[in-house]
Amino acid sequence: MKIEEQISLQPYNTFHIDATAEYFTVVQNEQELAEVLKSSLAQEHSIYMIGGGSNILLTQPVDGLVVLNKMKGVTIIQEDDEFIDVKFAGGENWHECVLWCVDHNFGGIENLSLIPGTIGAAPIQNIGAYGVELKDVFYEAEAIHIQTHERRIFKHAECDFGYRSSIFKTTLKGQYIITSVTLRLSKNPVFNTSYGNIQQELDVMGITTCSIKAISDAVIRIRQSKLPDPNVIGNAGSFFKNPVIDIDAFNALLMQFPDMPSYKNEHGVKIPAAWLIEHCGPENSSSWKGFREQDFGVHSKQALCLVNYSDASGLDIFNLSERIITSVQHAFNITLEREVNIW
Ligand code: EPU
Repeated sequence: MKIEEQISLQPYNTFHIDATAEYFTVVQNEQELAEVLKSSLAQEHSIYMIGGGSNILLTQPVDGLVVLNKMKGVTIIQEDDEFIDVKFAGGENWHECVLWCVDHNFGGIENLSLIPGTIGAAPIQNIGAYGVELKDVFYEAEAIHIQTHERRIFKHAECDFGYRSSIFKTTLKGQYIITSVTLRLSKNPVFNTSYGNIQQELDVMGITTCSIKAISDAVIRIRQSKLPDPNVIGNAGSFFKNPVIDIDAFNALLMQFPDMPSYKNEHGVKIPAAWLIEHCGPENSSSWKGFREQDFGVHSKQALCLVNYSDASGLDIFNLSERIITSVQHAFNITLEREVNIW
């Protein structure tokens, strides 16, 4: 076990924010994690787990021990003619696991192609895209309690999954480290092409017989066309959640903004935050989309994505998010909620 001091976290977060960790260590397996958690340093300091660093905004130095999850391994647990349960270690890269499933023709997560981050982080915010959420394929997760070191298995029903939410983000926030996730994948996949422009993209690609590989490729093409590549421009995907408002508030807004897109669900009406952000703006501008000040801004092709062009600080991005929240509040009387975790 090697614990380092005063390490820059810039290589470990996709916003590329240069914030320092007081202490920093890497764990390759559960044994190393157990060793770290039992160390006297861990007893005396707060522990912060980083996977792909793709859903955090570092606004200050991290006062405590940052543990980078590099636990690797893919194990088939059981299978029958219809399903296969595959256990992925928490430090595995999410997209590489998607590609592994696509290669083996195990269906269920192809719509979640190219989402940055790790397997261990996926259940925390119940990652989702193009009509599929992690909860649709989740079987169970193994986790270790940071204080007691107790190992626990979380079954689906115990995770309290919601839109970009789970028990790991609410009641049990910061208490457990997810060491592995088992997904139940299908050997006879049902293709989910109804969301957004997947079908349109398949048509452009000239696909006549659908496959999970084709869907994965289509999703990759769509994402690459509008979401900035974190290796090129620092970002953490969607910065805000799409707000859900009640039907009365929606009807009132619709009178004023007849072109506002919306999706009804069991909780009310979901409005794309990107549309709201695009349709209000800073002083002297009617839109935040494409806004840039110094090195921080709002992406020009996806208004839900805040970006660090080069040397922005976490506070620059945070303050921009505050300005956007205020602006959306004034224009639409809707309070945006951040999806990204603020450290
Ligand atoms: N739109 C705008 N302006 C924009 C972008 C989008 O007005 O700049 C409007 C359009 O009406 C569009 C609608 O917003 O039809 C929805 O846009 P999009 O399909 O791009 O999805 P989103 O709601 O902005 C969500 C997820 C993404 C996920 C996509 C695709 C959240 C917070 N975000 O974004 O997830 O990839 O759907 O399924 O739910 C992430 O969580 O980091 C993420 C990227």
